[in-house]
Amino acid sequence: MHAPRPLLSRRAGPLSGTVRVPGDKSISHRALMFGGLAIGETRISGLLEGEDVLATAAAMRAMGAKVTRDGEGAWRVTGVGVGGLSEPDAPLDLGNAGTATRLLMGVIAAHPFTAFMTGDASLRSRPMARVTVPLELMGARFVSRSKGRLPLAIIGTETPMPISYTLPVASAQVKSAVLLAGLNTPGETSVIEPEPTRDHTENMLRHFGAEVRIEEVPEGRKATLVGQPILKAADVVVPGDPSSAAFPVVAACLVPGSDIIVSGVGLNPLRAGVFTSLKEMGASIEEVNPRTEGGEPVADLRVRYAPLHGVEVPPERAPSMIDEYLVLAVAAACASGRTILRGLSELRVKESDRLAAIADGLTACGAKVTVEGDDCIIDGTGTPPKGGVTIAAKLDHRIAMSYLILGAVTAEPITIDDAAPVDTSFPGFADLMNGLGLKIEGVA
Ligand code: S3P
Repeated sequence: MHAPRPLLSRRAGPLSGTVRVPGDKSISHRALMFGGLAIGETRISGLLEGEDVLATAAAMRAMGAKVTRDGEGAWRVTGVGVGGLSEPDAPLDLGNAGTATRLLMGVIAAHPFTAFMTGDASLRSRPMARVTVPLELMGARFVSRSKGRLPLAIIGTETPMPISYTLPVASAQVKSAVLLAGLNTPGETSVIEPEPTRDHTENMLRHFGAEVRIEEVPEGRKATLVGQPILKAADVVVPGDPSSAAFPVVAACLVPGSDIIVSGVGLNPLRAGVFTSLKEMGASIEEVNPRTEGGEPVADLRVRYAPLHGVEVPPERAPSMIDEYLVLAVAAACASGRTILRGLSELRVKESDRLAAIADGLTACGAKVTVEGDDCIIDGTGTPPKGGVTIAAKLDHRIAMSYLILGAVTAEPITIDDAAPVDTSFPGFADLMNGLGLKIEGVA
């Protein structure tokens, strides 16, 4: 258990300046894993040095990859080749990191050894059966707590079998786990997803030399990996994380008079749904200097204050903004009129139950929020809710950051009981936001 770190956010004046948010978390995890499975030396720049990604680095080291840090965001990985990892001699502690856990479960499933995994209270409460079910079809076995929860043991298989698996839930982590198990599996491993989810695994596997085919089939989008490729080390440039960029972007949308630039933001279409939704609400977000970096579309975002109005966000947009609903709900609570967020069932199984975090937290702040099934309805008045409460972060970095952003516009300050989890994805969050003009401070 870490010592709780409460933070308070009070009403701020206009935001100004240019910032760069830390590297993309999804891409950072994958760069370390794929580098560790490739032959040769992979150089990574812009790696997110948050606790989640450091957990992946430690796990890859524990299984034989050489992972070194040269400087800020600059890392080198010398890989062991597909199928070349070795049995870790202690349990892998993955902290708060669901992506690290689920993707590594896939990697380990097709290695002939046994590994043990655990994590913090949040990670130990999250469902892993969604990953163990397809990996068992491929031949791995698992011993876990009920519902597949951590701690668990993965008994990897020496003779993995390829499968074609249709995802029952839209999850890039489950898709990636199956494809990564498919790396050390003969034949072709396919995943069919009814709604497309982030495609960083497919893109980066190709970048490292694997053959990945994408087809549209009647059931959705099918990704097929040709097994047992020779992955070759390849340099990776990690773009700024759009999920992290969403925090300064929403802050500038909400604080009157703001005009900021968030530079180098990754805008992969399967990640950028939050910006589409904000623009539909009337936000002024301009993509400046669009370019391609490390194979991903990137731009600088110029964001100016503009009054927001309510919108309906359709369920099929959920995978492209799955981590951004909390901060979008904060924006909706300050907008005028009704916002309806549809198809949020997956929010219940994130680092915390985020649907509850939206409903309970915003209601406590004075906003009008209702949950109907998997939909969330927020009735804004055009004036921010009053605030003046303490919000429990529940080991969820995005709860902490979202409510610190709301505190910048509420009449009374908002306190977060423990903002330590912010370091999992956005080290330096408070300093970066204060540099733009927010007023986030420690509480004695
Ligand atoms: C991620 C996929 C998403 C997302 C998570 C990162 C990834 O999870 O919420 O933060 O890197 O593949 P799900 O696959 O559970 O939707």
